[in-house]
Amino acid sequence: MSGDVSRVESPVTARGYMLCGFAAFGGILFGYDSGYINGVLGMDFFKREFGHATDLDPSGYNIHTWEKSLVTSILSAGTFFGALAGGNLADWIGRRLSIIIACGIFSVGVALQVASTAVGLLVGGRVIAGFGVGLVSAIVIMYMSEIAPKAIRGAIVAGYQWAITLGLLLAACVNQGTHKWDSYSSYRVPIAIQFVWAFILAVGLFFLPESPRWYVKEGRGEEALAALARLRGQPIDSEYLKFELGEIQANYEYERSISEAGWIDCFKGMGPSGNLRRVLIGVFLQMFQQLTGVNFIFYYGTTFFQQSGVQNAFLISLITNLVNVVTTPVAFYGVEKFGRRKLLIWGAAWMLTCEFIVGAVGVALPGSKAASTVLVVFVCFYIFAFATTWGPAAWIVIGEIYPLPIRAKGVALATASNWLWNFVLGYVTPYLVDEGEANLKAKVFFIWGSTCTLCLLFAYFFVPETKGLSLEQVDKMLEETTARTSAKWVPHETYVQNNEKLDHGAHGNEA
Ligand code: BGC
Repeated sequence: MSGDVSRVESPVTARGYMLCGFAAFGGILFGYDSGYINGVLGMDFFKREFGHATDLDPSGYNIHTWEKSLVTSILSAGTFFGALAGGNLADWIGRRLSIIIACGIFSVGVALQVASTAVGLLVGGRVIAGFGVGLVSAIVIMYMSEIAPKAIRGAIVAGYQWAITLGLLLAACVNQGTHKWDSYSSYRVPIAIQFVWAFILAVGLFFLPESPRWYVKEGRGEEALAALARLRGQPIDSEYLKFELGEIQANYEYERSISEAGWIDCFKGMGPSGNLRRVLIGVFLQMFQQLTGVNFIFYYGTTFFQQSGVQNAFLISLITNLVNVVTTPVAFYGVEKFGRRKLLIWGAAWMLTCEFIVGAVGVALPGSKAASTVLVVFVCFYIFAFATTWGPAAWIVIGEIYPLPIRAKGVALATASNWLWNFVLGYVTPYLVDEGEANLKAKVFFIWGSTCTLCLLFAYFFVPETKGLSLEQVDKMLEETTARTSAKWVPHETYVQNNEKLDHGAHGNEA
């Protein structure tokens, strides 16, 4: 079997899907946490409790703009640092235990928010919960991509993106259900529901095996084999396992011989498979995912639709969320059939077309019925495009492109970049569209269309195709190809063979 490079993994079972897919549940924490605060800030009871008397707001109370923006954006500060911390924690104590601890930290933050009756404690709770979500968002990606069989890894990680969309939708629904209540429960229920997500994720992971790749990194071969056997549903002496584990170990030895595993090593090597090249691909990929403009719709959609004269802005916002949830599963198929790179290129082309159409029609026929219909329809097409391409593919690719020695740190840096840009765009957007500010109206879509054009160029020139390869084969592919030639690469030599050759070479030289 050692010569047969294609037979690297055991057949995928239904149980394997479930074991590998469970951690996707972490996406619910991500989506729900980003989603619920907008609604809570608009609740009348919340405004009375946390706000200041004013005659400007129909509720008679108002929360200062700086307070709103602090409460909203502080989460991204927590998540940013949480994601970075994930780069160490996941290496020190393992992926699985790190996620369980992250759920604990997250729950402390949630408890503080539930208890809060003033902005100070709410902000404190958001920082801590954010730190937990940041940890979860980075480490779940590592964990899922490390345990999934190569044939379904893309689909499994796309499940994480699907959970994000479900989280966003759930938050919108819960807010919708409680926003009229005239009691503390109006905001405490939406916040407290998050305990459930954290509990399910932590308990579930308690029963799942640790990542075999982490065990290999720790030199714990026996445990790596046992974990792999559980994940693949194979007996411990199975040839498949021997082959898969052999590759992981041989690749790790090889990677360790060319790179150390510290933070500084993430920024070395611009060569074809150099660490820095890979880190930059991940960091920019996540930056560009945010620059597609998607959160303009999810964070500011309601206000924007209202401003553009769309009837029923709340309903339309709910519809965009539904489109997001319903269309994401198309990616389960798409990422494995067409590949990550193609989806990113065509997805960007499709999104930028929608964005320029919305901008052009909005400018040509401002306030008209035609313009608002075009706005709603093309925004939905746009979300469809994001949900099936850049949404999942950005997460999938960052789970695949790092060599084991710097994997945790690479994924952490890329995830932190997602949260950083999430924050930056969330912060500047009101200045672009508010009436007292730049007041761009539909013209803002020219900005998103342009940034999305950059997304297309970035994907075309820099993102390699990783579909159907084991994480170890991805390393070899990166050494031997450029982004544009990567899709044609086929596995031709195993790391076991490679290392044997190197060993013989070394002995030969000695002789
Ligand atoms: C992005 C989030 C976004 C969500 C929408 C995720 O992949 O990182 O910022 O809100 O998709 O579904």
